Amino acid sequence: MNDTRIGLLGLGAYVPEKVMTNAEWSRLVDTSDEWIVARTGIHRRRFAAEDENTADLAVHAARAALDDAGLEPEALDEIIVATDTPEVYSPDTASFVQHRLGARQIPTYDLGGSGCAGFLQAVDVARSRAREADRHILVIGVEVLSRLMNLTDRSTCVLFGDGAGAVIVGPGDHAAEILASVTGTDGSRTDILGIEAGGTRTPFSAENSPDGRMDVTMHGQTVFKQAVRHMSAASLKALERAGLSRDDVDLVVPHQANLRIINAVGKALRVPLEKVFVNVQEYGNTGSASVPLALAQAHEQGRIQDGDVVLLTSFGAGFHWGSVVVRF
Ligand code: COA
Repeated sequence: MNDTRIGLLGLGAYVPEKVMTNAEWSRLVDTSDEWIVARTGIHRRRFAAEDENTADLAVHAARAALDDAGLEPEALDEIIVATDTPEVYSPDTASFVQHRLGARQIPTYDLGGSGCAGFLQAVDVARSRAREADRHILVIGVEVLSRLMNLTDRSTCVLFGDGAGAVIVGPGDHAAEILASVTGTDGSRTDILGIEAGGTRTPFSAENSPDGRMDVTMHGQTVFKQAVRHMSAASLKALERAGLSRDDVDLVVPHQANLRIINAVGKALRVPLEKVFVNVQEYGNTGSASVPLALAQAHEQGRIQDGDVVLLTSFGAGFHWGSVVVRF
């Protein structure tokens, strides 16, 4: 392993144009704007157009990240796409992205099934692989949840939205240095959040997926508690590994699942809420895209200055979690 500084060389994001409001949901299922806002903080979310698929969103975000890094696609050495809503079942979305970007015949792979934690898990892997051989690795988090989720289950459908975010992980003196990363999994909690149908245990059938859509199984309150507990514990551990304390954090960019979870994590970390970035009101829960989308927007809005310590944290089905500390 060498001592080259590894960090984020560029950030990018993309959201589809179509806006789906709470009022529109209340015409489709038994819900209301008041319920959704009070329980989640979500006001609207974006839905992909009929002719937009996962790779389309991913490529938009990837091009933005490459532009931000001042790199051409030929400079990439590897591509990882974190998604639970892939372009097709096989091959992986990353293969489509490689070709569409015009990258070389570099290795690509998807990190799927980790729910909303996939992006930070991928950054953790990319960091060590970049460090090993000075690679430039494109890491994308992307979801088109609107295409696959059950649109009649009010307890889950109102939570999610579509989007993509991307970073380039690699060596460079001007990179926003990744100081530490912590990821973890509690495999005894596979039952609290997931999608059952479609796997070998329960293949798709006319009964479990009449319209080809997926039912999200979710024990909302258990997920809520596990999310707060693991995101705050992993964040404190990552700060410790970086030799920093909570007082050194300039901005927290948490997974945007629910405003109440975001506020509870801020409280558990004892970080003032003005130092916690929130865009869940605009985009809902965009799964793997949530953290890189929020990070790119926070940077674009001037919420991150040179020298700032930014804490990224997420959780997802598995039950997985991850926290990454970056100095810009
Ligand atoms: N509109 C109106 N009512 C709804 C509703 C909706 N969209 N969804 C559920 N309800 C109802 C329930 O049926 C329940 O009714 P009942 O009391 O008659 O049984 C009531 O609202 C309360 O449901 P409950 O699940 O206890 O609400 P909650 O306060 O826990 O909030 C979540 C629900 C999902 C918002 C919350 O648990 C949560 O955010 N959990 C974390 C989920 C998450 O982040 N998932 C993504 C992981 S990546």
